[in-house]
Amino acid sequence: MNLDYIIHDEWSIIEEGFNPDTVKASESLFSIGNGAMGQRANFEESYSGPTFQGSYIAGVYYPDKTRVGWWKNGYPEYFAKVLNAPNWIGINVLVNNEKLDLYTCKEVANFRRELNMKEGWLSRSFEATLQNDVKVKVESTRFLSLSHDELGAINYSVTPVNSDAEIVFTPYIDGGITNEDTNWDDQFWDILSVDQKSHQSFLQAKTMKTNFHTCTFMESKIFVDGKQTDLSYESEKSSTYASCSYAHQTLKGQTYTIQKFGGYVVDRNHDESELVAAAKKVLKEANDLGFDQLLERQKQSWKQIWDMADITISGDVKAQQGIRFNIFHLNQTYLGTDARLNIGPKGFTGEKYGGSTYWDTEAYCIPFYMATKDQKVARKLLEYRYNHLDRAIENAEKLGFKNGAALYPMVTMNGEECHNEWEITFEEIHRNGAIAFAIYNYHRYTNDYSYIPEKGLEVLIGIARFWHQRASYSTYKNKYVILGVTGPNEYENNVNNNWYTNYIAKWCIDYAIENINKIKSEYNEDYTRIMSKVELLDSEIEKWKEVADNMYFPFSEEHKVYLQQDGFLDKDLVTVADLDIAQRPINQHWSWDRILRSPYIKQADVLQGFYFFEDHFPDEELERHFDFYEPFTVHESSLSPCVHSVQAAKLGRMDQAYTFYLRTSRLDLDDYNHEVHEGLHITSMAGTWMSIVEGFGGMRVKEGKLSFTPRIPKQWEAYSFKINFRNQILKVNVCQNETTFELDNGDELAILVNGELVVVTPNNLVTV
Ligand code: BGC
Repeated sequence: MNLDYIIHDEWSIIEEGFNPDTVKASESLFSIGNGAMGQRANFEESYSGPTFQGSYIAGVYYPDKTRVGWWKNGYPEYFAKVLNAPNWIGINVLVNNEKLDLYTCKEVANFRRELNMKEGWLSRSFEATLQNDVKVKVESTRFLSLSHDELGAINYSVTPVNSDAEIVFTPYIDGGITNEDTNWDDQFWDILSVDQKSHQSFLQAKTMKTNFHTCTFMESKIFVDGKQTDLSYESEKSSTYASCSYAHQTLKGQTYTIQKFGGYVVDRNHDESELVAAAKKVLKEANDLGFDQLLERQKQSWKQIWDMADITISGDVKAQQGIRFNIFHLNQTYLGTDARLNIGPKGFTGEKYGGSTYWDTEAYCIPFYMATKDQKVARKLLEYRYNHLDRAIENAEKLGFKNGAALYPMVTMNGEECHNEWEITFEEIHRNGAIAFAIYNYHRYTNDYSYIPEKGLEVLIGIARFWHQRASYSTYKNKYVILGVTGPNEYENNVNNNWYTNYIAKWCIDYAIENINKIKSEYNEDYTRIMSKVELLDSEIEKWKEVADNMYFPFSEEHKVYLQQDGFLDKDLVTVADLDIAQRPINQHWSWDRILRSPYIKQADVLQGFYFFEDHFPDEELERHFDFYEPFTVHESSLSPCVHSVQAAKLGRMDQAYTFYLRTSRLDLDDYNHEVHEGLHITSMAGTWMSIVEGFGGMRVKEGKLSFTPRIPKQWEAYSFKINFRNQILKVNVCQNETTFELDNGDELAILVNGELVVVTPNNLVTV
């Protein structure tokens, strides 16, 4: 474990004491977002120490031209970069003409930072002694409004402690920003205009190539000892920047405060020519309500989210903080209000992973959103892929597939592939399987079949066509094989017959056929419409079946396990326990070549298949595979510990499940993978939720009913969670010796608890 400086608290992330070495990590951990925009927890005042500046607007990206040593046919033209957007949070502070900068101060005392997850705000306080010996006390509070998602607000005050001092606040907006991960040092933004009038400033900019038009705006108010004061100001403007300066001779002990509203309006939601007017409207609403009222609304909005999504854990503050941190960041990233948006692995907390959408959404995030929000949210996530189907077909065509075969991109912003590492783009095709699995999972959970005839079947057909064409016949094996792939375990490349990929490919074909038959007999009109669109003949379906029925699965008779891929047993099978700890994480210590030759597994691979298709295998088989593969697993993907936690709990290995739980829920808080400074692992946070609800709670859907096998780690006194199941809200509370179920609404709900039928009626506590 690398970092251990976050104070354990049930509802807040707290840091005490100023340490320049952890500034970048804290900028990630204390990030804030509201689904429409987000930002790293950069300081408002200037900071000359190591920092990673980042403000991001949902859906705004730049196609950065691919940079590779040797261009190969089929390479994606670009890698979509999530763009660092113009900065609106900046407030330069001068104290007797010296810049307040925590990196150069003589002393920083009582530094405290808090991210209050219950209410959705970030605060900071400290006392700084500047080189000119003036000591000031600083307090700031900042939030990105959920009720007004184009708006953020800052309350920032400075109190001179040891003498009177002239304090100058210079709030600004700045379009002169860059991305750290640019390939060619390109300019990403074209600044179109900067307007400054009265206390308001507007910076209009468009992204190069993608032409997203945005307006960044700000307005400030000044207070002395809490009373609003109309100070004269000096404004400054350049082609990329606007500021206003408010100077005040501040008495010792007097508090000088600036309130700054700012944010972004974008042409996804407004007409391009109306952006300044839209920004003015946001500012007017902000002024009408004022900072305090907006903050009150913020608390209300978060209360609503927590009422449904909270998981409580008694008797283990560290675990409690972990799960809330995960639920909080998921909700900061995606709220399900806009079907054009999705959930990026880093959310709004960093640049890594560029484009927004990975298989993570379908494989990991959908269960969380299905159970903690209205089911329309999960449906929107499915529709996102339906809307990209034509692009997925084009994507497959570029690689030589035909006849409507669809290969969904590994990474995308608009449906087009925008990832350019060979192994991932071309080999990691199992992602197609997760997209089909999500359709199955959505139907299994919500019982909303309508999605499949309306949209889902076309996706399933495109995917089945892809697998049929991608598999090839081996005369040697007399079976269909899938060659040259990367499975979920990215520490193996270009392998033949990755068991997980072959298994999900077969399943996709079978599932597509099952649905074609169902829609043919039960949804005649849809059937006719879809078939005339996709031009699918029975003879083609027969060919798919031939592949699915004769798929090859590598298996070891000796170990009685499916092999991760052909040849896995040829490796030097030294377990992770025998690996020098100083060598880990191996991806930061070893050459790629060495990693590929090793037996080490980055994340669940065969076990990912056992997770999705749990019902296909008896528990003894799960146990055998878990015992075979986990010892080689280094869990260097954030997506790894959660699947293992769910499976360890299923096998009744609660200590192991608990260890994995802590690892997934505190992956970033404790920086297990030594990379938190780059941003947070947002999509794996949904896996943390799975570890509790599916792992410890043992929640599944079986034959249309919710089913539970509750277990509890010995470290906990109790835990509880809520589930929205087909529009009924069920609260589950698990203690060491009993579990209670309570239904909030509806008529009654029949559930299974340890295999027994239990009927829960509203407001009637059932104890098992
Ligand atoms: C994992 C992938 C994942 C990606 C984004 C990688 O490290 O191996 O499975 O899709 O991160 O989270």
